[in-house]
Amino acid sequence: MEESNKTLGEFIIENQKDFQYSSGELSRIFNSIRLAAKVVSYKVNKAGLVDIIGSAGDKNIQGEDQQKLDVYANETFIQTLINREIVCGIASEENDDFITVEGSDKSNNNKYVVLMDPLDGSSNIDVNVSVGTIFSVYRRISPIGTPVTLEDFLQPGINQVAAGYVIYGTSTMIVYTTGHGVNGFTLNPAIGTFYLSHPNMKFPVDGSIYSVNEGNYVHFPQGVKDYIKYCQLEEEDRPYTSRYIGSLASDMHRNMIKGGIYLYPTSSGAAKGKLRLLYECNPMAFIAEQAGGKASDGVSRIMEILPAELHERTPFFCGSANMVEKVEEFINNAQ
Ligand code: AHG
Ligand code: MN
Ligand code: MN
Ligand code: MN
Repeated sequence: MEESNKTLGEFIIENQKDFQYSSGELSRIFNSIRLAAKVVSYKVNKAGLVDIIGSAGDKNIQGEDQQKLDVYANETFIQTLINREIVCGIASEENDDFITVEGSDKSNNNKYVVLMDPLDGSSNIDVNVSVGTIFSVYRRISPIGTPVTLEDFLQPGINQVAAGYVIYGTSTMIVYTTGHGVNGFTLNPAIGTFYLSHPNMKFPVDGSIYSVNEGNYVHFPQGVKDYIKYCQLEEEDRPYTSRYIGSLASDMHRNMIKGGIYLYPTSSGAAKGKLRLLYECNPMAFIAEQAGGKASDGVSRIMEILPAELHERTPFFCGSANMVEKVEEFINNAQ
């Protein structure tokens, strides 16, 4: 690949028109996310050398053991956004409730809310495997000048004005959309600058990778079991390849580049699956659709679900359009 010398900062300025209702606020949110991502990336790269491996000793609202890096990434992204007074509220996988950001003059004048999974793939921190950050941006519904409300966060994914993910992997990348395609940027760690490395990313319409935690197979609904068997059948271009990292951002990223499907179905112990609609599924669905892929809960489009609560979960099938349609067909036929 030819080395690009266009930076993320330059790209955002050049594409100002893509930042809806642009008054510079959304670009400033991106600047903050980019900065926080660099701070977290630096820390992740020192895992094993500094004391950030292991549990922080608490459980989060999801009932999961909070890792030290979950807490560190959460605080870094939240503080970076709060200090710049550019959002009116933040919701995070790691916080019980949303955070109201009034601004130092208590004006409540900011227009956007940010929702995030600050550290995706917690179980991979201790073993030197890629982790990520996932984020989503909405324009508030409540009137400017008043404190942010729960309704500002409980919007369907189709209302997103921007979404993205960061991967702290073999290299650190930011991939994002503002509803005008998907672009990826890679960090040059020597100088701390993101460069455009993956312009106009597209999900192949078809793929040959399926990504699912197959250890849960016996607990999956019949339609999903049937689809997995279909993936494994020796027929046409199958069997497919199975690849599962256990970090949604990384699994999605690979599938978007190579063609594939990510599945996190319901199981007998988890009636709504595991993944969080607001922090994980909606942002990934927005990116997938903007790249020509699809995202479904098995029956309906993820981005049309009207959320009822902040930490709502949903089954999630996301990836190459033909593969998502196929799993929906299997789920439908099993009913
Ligand atoms: P998080 O680390 O933010 O809690 O997310 C973990 C999610 C997702 O990243 C990953 O794909 C999935 O959980 C893995 O779950 P299993 O270990 O159940 O496969
Ligand atoms: Mn978690
Ligand atoms: Mn996650
Ligand atoms: Mn997380």
